[in-house]
This record gives sequence, structure tokens and C-alpha cells, in this order.
Amino acid sequence: MNAASGMPDPTRTLFIPVILGTVRQGRRSLAAARLVTSELSRRPGIETELIDIARVPLPVDDAGEAIKDPGFASQMERADALVIVSPEYNHGYSGLLKHLLDSCLKEYIHKAVGVVGVSAGPFGGTRSIENLLPVLRELGLVTIFWDVNFSSVQTVFDESGALRDDAYLVRIDKFLKELVWMAKTLRHGREHVALDE
Ligand SMILES: Cc1cc2nc3c(=O)[nH]c(=O)nc-3n(C[C@H](O)[C@H](O)[C@H](O)COP(=O)(O)O)c2cc1C
Repeated sequence: MNAASGMPDPTRTLFIPVILGTVRQGRRSLAAARLVTSELSRRPGIETELIDIARVPLPVDDAGEAIKDPGFASQMERADALVIVSPEYNHGYSGLLKHLLDSCLKEYIHKAVGVVGVSAGPFGGTRSIENLLPVLRELGLVTIFWDVNFSSVQTVFDESGALRDDAYLVRIDKFLKELVWMAKTLRHGREHVALDE
């Protein structure tokens, strides 16, 4: 809020972390997650962070909010929007990504989310994204209508993780513009619009 005018301040920093949704050794999704994090961090008014699910301590002998990690929960609480980088595993998303997402609930409500699909095959993780969308909706997140699809990801980045095809930067830009718009709109709604108005 701008104290002088009493109007919401659209320039207030947004926090948009990127969740890397796999723990697989040698995961190529890491290069995609790093690229999107770097593109986000170049935008004015955005703070971001790469959340590597391999670094979030989550037990696998229980599930749901019972295993909430306080660090991850506070990142989700603070977030205005999320980017999820989701590799395609047998036409679905990774099991540990779902396990992590299931550990929070109220932290996500009325926040924007965009998904980056990654696959070795030609469909850019589309099937992983399509399967993830109803899960995100159930968590209270608001999905945007742009995705980023890294197909044949083994050819998109070189051995050092550098991007080989700059066309991806244009797609990421479009995706992030939409995500930021949705994040600002929903933040305004969370702060100024009552649910039962
Ligand atoms: C268990 C498993 C299942 C996979 N299933 C698919 C698939 O259904 N379609 C596809 O295009 N690639 C599939 N892949 C390949 C991944 O999409 C590929 O490894 C890609 O680089 C993204 O995953 P990564 O971040 O683990 O590398 C599979 C990989 C694993 C480990």
C-alpha cells in the first residue's frame, strides 16, 4: 500500500520461488530451473529463489501436513506465485514433487502458479503438466494459461547447462509476464477483496 495515496503499490516486490520437482541424479530439469530462476531474477520488482526438493527434509514414512517442513512452509507463505519445474516421468509428474506439495495447503490459497514441463521426448512434459493441473487447483493455487515446454531437453542445454536455443527466452518471457500479472492481481485480491463480499 502506498501510504500517501492509500492505493495499492503495484511496484512492491513480488516473491516468486521456483520449485525444482525432481531429486533424480543427473536431472536435466536443473538446467531448466536455473534458467527460469535467472530470467525471473532479471525482472524488476521480483525476488526469487530456487527450491530444490532434494534439499527439503521430508520424511517418507508419513504424508500430508503432518510432515510440513517449516522452511518450505514459510517460503510458500511468503510466495505471491510459484513456478514448478516438472519433468515427465511415465507420462506423469514426479512422486516426490506431489509429496512435497501435499505438505502444505493454506499457504498456497489464491496464489498464482505456472508450470515448466521437461521431457526427453517430443512433447515437452505436456502430459506431466496436464496431470499436475488438477492437483494444483485442489491446493488452491490459480494456474496461468501459459506453460514452458522443454522437449528433447538433452539437446536444449549443453554439458555446462548453458542454453543452446534462444527461442526459449522469448517463450519464458511471455510465460513470466502472464505469471507476474496473475501474481499482482491475486495479491490485490487477497489484500483487498473479501471472500463473501
Ligand atoms: C522414471 C522415468 C520415466 C520417464 N518417462 C518419460 C516419459 O514418459 N516421457 C518422456 O518424454 N520422458 C520420460 N523420461 C525422461 C525424462 O523426461 C528425462 O529424464 C528428462 O531429462 C526430464 O527428467 P530429468 O529432470 O530427471 O532429467 C522418464 C525418465 C524417468 C527417470
